Amino acid sequence: MALDRGLDVVCRPERPGEETAVRAVVADAFVAEPAVADLVDALRASPDWIDGLSLVADAGDGPVAHILFTRALLDAPRRLVPVLTLAPVGVAGRYQRQGIGSALIRYGFELVRQRPEPVVFLEGDPAYYYRFGFEAGGLHGFRRPSLRVPEDAFQVVRLPAYEPWMTGTLVYSRVFWDLDCVGLREPAEG
Ligand SMILES: CC(C)(COP(=O)(O)OP(=O)(O)OC[C@H]1O[C@@H](n2cnc3c(N)ncnc32)[C@H](O)[C@@H]1OP(=O)(O)O)[C@@H](O)C(=O)NCCC(=O)NCCS
Repeated sequence: MALDRGLDVVCRPERPGEETAVRAVVADAFVAEPAVADLVDALRASPDWIDGLSLVADAGDGPVAHILFTRALLDAPRRLVPVLTLAPVGVAGRYQRQGIGSALIRYGFELVRQRPEPVVFLEGDPAYYYRFGFEAGGLHGFRRPSLRVPEDAFQVVRLPAYEPWMTGTLVYSRVFWDLDCVGLREPAEG
């Protein structure tokens, strides 16, 4: 895919053997948050990993951007519903703001629209994610997994399998809690 800023990238699932390259991309994108690279590795080792939904953008010499959809649950009134979370989303520093993150997210949605899960949840800046169809979760009766997730950061995309009774609270994978990757923490005092 040729991006409007002249760079050629191919969006595709991560391949076996690319775990280290993916970790390097995530670490580069989240320099100030080293836990995020650990989060990807911990999810990879967990039952919430879905083969084929760790996606990369390859600029010809391996991954330069990475996004990950993993399993979560929606605690809906009728039953627990398997859903997806999109986290993390990372583009290596020197490749940012060239359309690569957008291309990779759009590619990801082509894949997840064909799946049985009804909703994708995400914590992120609405100023960036609205362009992919994300809406405030509260608009559709979804509740944040923690009060530390800012209301406007808690966003959803409803997929073809969505039905209106599917409201309720997002229950993150245990891995997000183990690595303290849910919401924002107050700075320590002193
Ligand atoms: C955020 C990120 C994924 C965006 O990917 P990207 O390839 O750099 O962005 P794109 O080129 O696809 O999109 C550029 C557009 O997004 C906007 N944008 C980029 N990062 C943004 C951010 N953090 N918040 C709001 N808008 C952002 C740009 O202003 C630009 O807007 P425009 O098209 O209206 O000019 C990438 O910059 C990144 O990895 N950043 C560091 C890690 C991070 O913050 N991840 C997101 C956590 S939720």
